[in-house]
Amino acid sequence: MAILNIKNLSVNYGPVAAVKGIDLSVAQGKIIAILGANGAGKSSTVNAISGLVAHHADRISFKEKSILALGTEQRIKQGITMIPEGRRVFPSLSVKENLLLGGYLLKSNKAELETTLEKMYALFPILAERNTQLAATLSGGQQQQLAIARALMSRPEIIMFDEPSLGLAPKIVETIFDLLVKLKEDGNTLLVVEQNVGMILDVADYVYVMANGEIRSQGTVDELGETEAIKRAYLGGKP
Ligand SMILES: Nc1ncnc2c1ncn2[C@@H]1O[C@H](COP(=O)(O)OP(=O)(O)O)[C@@H](O)[C@H]1O
Ligand SMILES: [Mg+2]
Repeated sequence: MAILNIKNLSVNYGPVAAVKGIDLSVAQGKIIAILGANGAGKSSTVNAISGLVAHHADRISFKEKSILALGTEQRIKQGITMIPEGRRVFPSLSVKENLLLGGYLLKSNKAELETTLEKMYALFPILAERNTQLAATLSGGQQQQLAIARALMSRPEIIMFDEPSLGLAPKIVETIFDLLVKLKEDGNTLLVVEQNVGMILDVADYVYVMANGEIRSQGTVDELGETEAIKRAYLGGKP
């Protein structure tokens, strides 16, 4: 069943048409990938779903209900969260403070917040170990884990992840992708944006390839054929 359903989504920045009327569907409990070269419109798509950029659509429904009229905070409350490109943690706050900020919408329920925090420490032992350390002092891979844990603090039902592998060493990327699989096994739904085709093809259940604001091809990795459609979309951007 599709947890997220999008019909005819467009994002414009003044005269720049970044996303041109795309349809997209995310099945519950799966890892869905959006691939494409730099400037294809991937970030604009997930930013629109988060409500972070102005957008038009015939329909954006989450669990069968329209979320078009909701702002970012309301969408997070509904269970839609995003880890933005460049894993922006708050460098001058401690690991714990970063996590608590991620859970601020749960603040009304202190017990729930504590339980969720403990879950994060269990899932990311390094964060428990570095609990009081400033986020700025963490390595890139640890900051990525903190960004993921912070997003999970809002207890999302769908996690959107913009270029998780960006700027990380291959070994760390492997750890992050293992984690994506673990999150899926725990029942989460993931929508992952990637420019680097690499490892995402090993974990994605379904792939959309974007170029020039449009979806150029889609299917399972097997259907697409790792090389054909995907490579073509990267080279020159013409179908
Ligand atoms: N804030 C913005 N203002 C103007 N143009 C933008 C802005 N953000 C993105 N763009 C343009 O929109 C297009 C799609 O960008 P983006 O969604 O960031 O693509 P991707 O994430 O695939 O690299 C690009 O042409 C980019 O230059
Ligand atoms: Mg981007």
